[in-house]
Amino acid sequence: MSAALDPELEAGLRRLRLRGMRELAPELLQTAKTQRWAPQELLATLVREEIASREASNQRARLKAAGFPAPKTLDGFDIKASSLPRATFEFLASLEWLDHKDNLCLAGPAGIGKSHLAQALGRAAIAAGRKVRFFQADQLIEALYRGLADNTVGKLIERLLRHDFIVIDDLGFTALDRVAADHLFRFIAAAYEQRSVAITTNVEFERWTQFLPDAATATAILDRFLHHCHVIALDGESFRLREARELVTPA
Ligand SMILES: Nc1ncnc2c1ncn2[C@@H]1O[C@H](COP(=O)(O)OP(=O)(O)OP(=O)(O)O)[C@@H](O)[C@H]1O
Ligand SMILES: [Mg+2]
Repeated sequence: MSAALDPELEAGLRRLRLRGMRELAPELLQTAKTQRWAPQELLATLVREEIASREASNQRARLKAAGFPAPKTLDGFDIKASSLPRATFEFLASLEWLDHKDNLCLAGPAGIGKSHLAQALGRAAIAAGRKVRFFQADQLIEALYRGLADNTVGKLIERLLRHDFIVIDDLGFTALDRVAADHLFRFIAAAYEQRSVAITTNVEFERWTQFLPDAATATAILDRFLHHCHVIALDGESFRLREARELVTPA
């Protein structure tokens, strides 16, 4: 067993908030002694551990702040069971498009993995050190509406743009009135060429007027969103239906 740290040293590490070092120091001091490490090696190891522990806690905080509704991952995405070509999956997983501030549109019918993929890419982006925010479209629209009441829409959009990647899930499910559509436009325009935005939707672009107040608004939003956008049209049978069918025992 490794001996406890000297109380003064322990208090000092606590005061400097060097938690990784504080937790590992007793064991590392012991190892350094038995294995006759050079002093520099011990110091370098302690610093490395502190950095690793900070990065891990930073990543946990970013993951929590992202607001993913489910723990979906790229590893958990079955490429063979999807209409997505492997090369496209690999391109998306490379996250190269995030460096270029490109947008992403995942379109197609219900239950084919649009939200799964959007969340999994968000998670991968967080693991790669990025800041991500995930919204159900309704949530985002509501948040912007609340901003209207106290005149903070601009601030809210600014805060959203502190993220590298913002996902709007299920756009088109609820019709947007003129104010909501204007908020969406302001956000898309502000993010244009500055941040990556992903939209998942069941609605073809030609039909965006179905949930937006008029053709001019739909065009204005699509024009900015689709410039530098990877549009991925997925297809196939709903995973939910497939899984439900598997649960039905044949008579
Ligand atoms: N290729 C896949 N590999 C593994 N799981 C998948 C795949 N596609 C879908 N799923 C799973 O099927 C369920 C439905 O997928 P998801 O919620 O992503 O669908 P969606 O396309 O967003 O549908 P909707 O338009 O109804 O929102 C989820 O539990 C998801 O994890
Ligand atoms: Mg979905």
